[in-house]
Amino acid sequence: MKMNVLVLPGDGIGTEVTREAVRVLQHVAAKFGHEVQLTEGLLGGVAIHKTGVPLPEETEKLAHACDATLLGAVGLPEFDDAPPQQRPEKGLLGIRKALGVYANLRPVRSFRSLLDSSPLKNERVDGVDMIIVRELNGGLYYGLPRGVEGEGAEERGTNTMTYTRAEIQRITRMAFELAKNRRRKVTSVDKSNVLETSQLWRKVVNEVAAEYPGVKCEHLLVDNAAMQLILNPKQFDVMLTENMFGDILSDEGSVLSGSIGMLPSASIGAQRPSGAWVGLYEPVHGSAPDIAGQNKANPLGAIGSVAAMLEYSFQLLEEAAAVNRAIDAVLESGNVTADLRPKGAPAGTDQVGKAVCDAI
Ligand code: IPM
Ligand code: MG
Repeated sequence: MKMNVLVLPGDGIGTEVTREAVRVLQHVAAKFGHEVQLTEGLLGGVAIHKTGVPLPEETEKLAHACDATLLGAVGLPEFDDAPPQQRPEKGLLGIRKALGVYANLRPVRSFRSLLDSSPLKNERVDGVDMIIVRELNGGLYYGLPRGVEGEGAEERGTNTMTYTRAEIQRITRMAFELAKNRRRKVTSVDKSNVLETSQLWRKVVNEVAAEYPGVKCEHLLVDNAAMQLILNPKQFDVMLTENMFGDILSDEGSVLSGSIGMLPSASIGAQRPSGAWVGLYEPVHGSAPDIAGQNKANPLGAIGSVAAMLEYSFQLLEEAAAVNRAIDAVLESGNVTADLRPKGAPAGTDQVGKAVCDAI
């Protein structure tokens, strides 16, 4: 198979972790007899520096032309005071929308070898295996009206949380389809005791749930969900939620496994006639400017995102499994970066990438 992949390293540690992810992609492709055609593009702060905008038109065109996009991270502290429209993050939101990748899948699972790195007691986290299905093209992130207007005491900031029935239906179907092949339980998270958007969300989720009699459907309020994720994370199989709640809960979920650096994500949209998904693949962590350029960042979230790409955009399940097994093997070996609190000296970003290749 020929794989056309757009690589957007982005900012901060994005460059380092995507370098290792690409190394693993090339290695697994060579091993299984596939061809990888890589194109590099600009997104985020680096794109603002070079072109004046966080999502250049060229990048958008490339993303549409390639089979899949691999992304590092975006965000630089120098833009902290810039308005949302001129920030690196705007590029990320722009490309998610341009590609129509409305379903962000964030698997959270515990690793035996990392139990001591988890902030929770071993027995609470051992055996956690869940996936957060976060709606990615709607809600507060995109709703209109938005902005800041007026002056003095009357200066007012506005954002709008809005969802249509169609938007809720498609993400809910995605969650139930995934649940069918897992432990057949969907927990939908909302704030329906306060928000009308959530009341519609819950109603539509229940309607879609009726199409899946074999899958159990539960609802949790988001504040309770945040608490349950710490108290008893093993109760969850598929957690379905809107964009902003999913952003927050997935950071919380990520540390259950020991480090946010471990967590991969797949953002998928339309399914091509071949069955392959249009997809954008990125680790859940941010650009971590404090450790950028120091060969300290954990590349396993980015490498796990390559596994997700092989699975969803190329339907190469065996290759994806080989990458995931190699990640497990490297974790077992203890040859890991500082965030995972290794017993000996921490490994560098590049050493971890190389170790994953060696384990494939
Ligand atoms: C994430 C990130 C992004 C988000 C930021 C960088 C815009 O936190 O992917 O979770 O909020 O979606
Ligand atoms: Mg986030």
